[in-house]
Amino acid sequence: MPVNKGIKSREFVLLKKMLMTSAHSLKVIEKRVLTPSSVELSFQLPQELLKDYAFQAGQYLTLAHQIEGKEVRRSYSLCSAPCQNTWKVGIKKVEGGLFSTWANDHLEVGESLKVFAPEGKFVVNPTANDSSHYLAFAAGSGITPIMSMIQEVLDQAPKAKFTLVYGNQSPEETMFLDELEQRSNAEPERFNLIQFYSRTQVDGARFGRIDTGAIKHLFLNELSGIQFDQFMMCGPEAMIQTLREILPDHGGQPENMHDELFFSSETAVEQTQAGQCVLSVVLDGETSTFNIDKNTPVLDAVLNQDLDPPYSCQGGVCSSCIALVTEGQATMIKNQILTDNEVAEGLVLTCQTLAQSDQLTIDYDEA
Ligand code: FES
Repeated sequence: MPVNKGIKSREFVLLKKMLMTSAHSLKVIEKRVLTPSSVELSFQLPQELLKDYAFQAGQYLTLAHQIEGKEVRRSYSLCSAPCQNTWKVGIKKVEGGLFSTWANDHLEVGESLKVFAPEGKFVVNPTANDSSHYLAFAAGSGITPIMSMIQEVLDQAPKAKFTLVYGNQSPEETMFLDELEQRSNAEPERFNLIQFYSRTQVDGARFGRIDTGAIKHLFLNELSGIQFDQFMMCGPEAMIQTLREILPDHGGQPENMHDELFFSSETAVEQTQAGQCVLSVVLDGETSTFNIDKNTPVLDAVLNQDLDPPYSCQGGVCSSCIALVTEGQATMIKNQILTDNEVAEGLVLTCQTLAQSDQLTIDYDEA
């Protein structure tokens, strides 16, 4: 990461301000078990907050709660549709994940969580005249934003169609399986559900992962001759990269291919370098200096010092934790938001940033 002192990204200053949304305490009014390792939470929205929490299909909520004495924040996609006037998120338990384990195993109906207003650019906005055919690929809990899109498209655009290619290990681990099959059976001409299972042979479903061979086979057979207008993808990076290579041969263009990487901030951080770094943090005009492990994300280290940096999702998706590297070298575990130019200017998402040099200075005020 190059050093570049004092450069501000105007676009990002504006974006950051727009995204620094306030949070409200919302009550969980329903907790539905979806699979042995996932639940759906429904929130109660008071009338006076309906406008602040209006959302587009595909957006996410950032939830915060005190767990083991610390505030933990995580972002989860809304799985309900805007037209349903409900606010539901699907949470799959991640091994070792603080928030997802607490939400699955301990959270009780009636508890309130701090919930930030909806955010996210992976969206669809179908109008009543929309006659598009949407093609979505989802794997695992990548279904959550797609679930919202399916319901919004089918309920708001009577002439539109939706095809979903959905991959899981087994039917038991498949989120929203009943709803999807019911909808597909009720409106087979408008909603085509194509299922893949990687560990179980199931009648009517494909066996294996959604990989290059499987996708090409689909376009040569079941999807052959169909003109798709919008392509939505949510799942692991390998699946999305494969789709980005194949879809241009089937109508995919930069403007109609949309993706969201499935990524959990709760999964283990890749170890980069061992050792310590002296981190200086400029925040609200004050500089604090302390030692951190190089494999601890900078935002975590800053929060451990009881400083008050801006942040929201802790998952590299909201951009509220941006800072400017003014000295030293750093790398990001994941970056779907900052452009190459912004990275070259020295901007980083601190929740994804690992120190690579023995000294590092980051400035929240200049970003
Ligand atoms: S806190 Fe959301 S991108 Fe870092």
